[in-house]
Amino acid sequence: MFVAGNWKMNKTVKETKDFFNEFNKLVSKTKNEILICPSFPCIPAAKQFASKKVFIGAQDAFFEEKGEFTGKVSFLQLKDFCDFVLLGHSDQRHKFSESNQSINKKIKTALKFNFNVILCVGETLEEKEEEKTNLVLSEQLSDSLKGIFFNSKLFVAYEPVWVIGTGKTAKQNDVFEAHSFIRSQLTELFGEKANSTKILYGGSVKPENCKEIFSIKNVDGVLVGGASLNPKTFAQIANTAK
Ligand code: 13P
Repeated sequence: MFVAGNWKMNKTVKETKDFFNEFNKLVSKTKNEILICPSFPCIPAAKQFASKKVFIGAQDAFFEEKGEFTGKVSFLQLKDFCDFVLLGHSDQRHKFSESNQSINKKIKTALKFNFNVILCVGETLEEKEEEKTNLVLSEQLSDSLKGIFFNSKLFVAYEPVWVIGTGKTAKQNDVFEAHSFIRSQLTELFGEKANSTKILYGGSVKPENCKEIFSIKNVDGVLVGGASLNPKTFAQIANTAK
């Protein structure tokens, strides 16, 4: 399983160091792959203090390489620190109005710089209630991946917006259906090779529910927010076998 943590806008450099001092020991025997995505200022510290087992990633980056883009960080600048990036997270889509077109440009630049990309997709509560989940997922995938060929560095994370940060989890069948649908869309875009694309589930993943989530077909791992901030709870998830 691939177990990724998204720290969002949390933790200082000192808190990052303290986290890894504890976390490294707790996951020394895990067979799962682990990724942590801190915010930009903590990425160098994470790289320094995380054990070699743990991949480090960014939560976003801009599609231009350099220039007059105040406040932005490029993949060229990030390359020295990490080789994973989350793109299209629902915070970016819904709190900062990011479009699929912008995400598409970012994915292209990220792959050009050899980053592993976790493309996040997912429907809002309103869209779910209007039974538009598949429509939204298909639009997000086809528009974000326009002009992109199969790439083994591309992952997809299904994160239903109505579950994120609520403590609730999506029903097992909702996750099963969304992941099957995503797999079929990826197969339409990339052919049979898409069977190897990792599809992660995100939304209130906790030590108590991760085993059940791991058992769902087409779930290749998880993307964890809140529960990744605590070294003990995140290690419990990272140590859970399928
Ligand atoms: P929670 O695990 O806190 O619901 O967050 C999920 C998420 O947004 C991960 O990217």
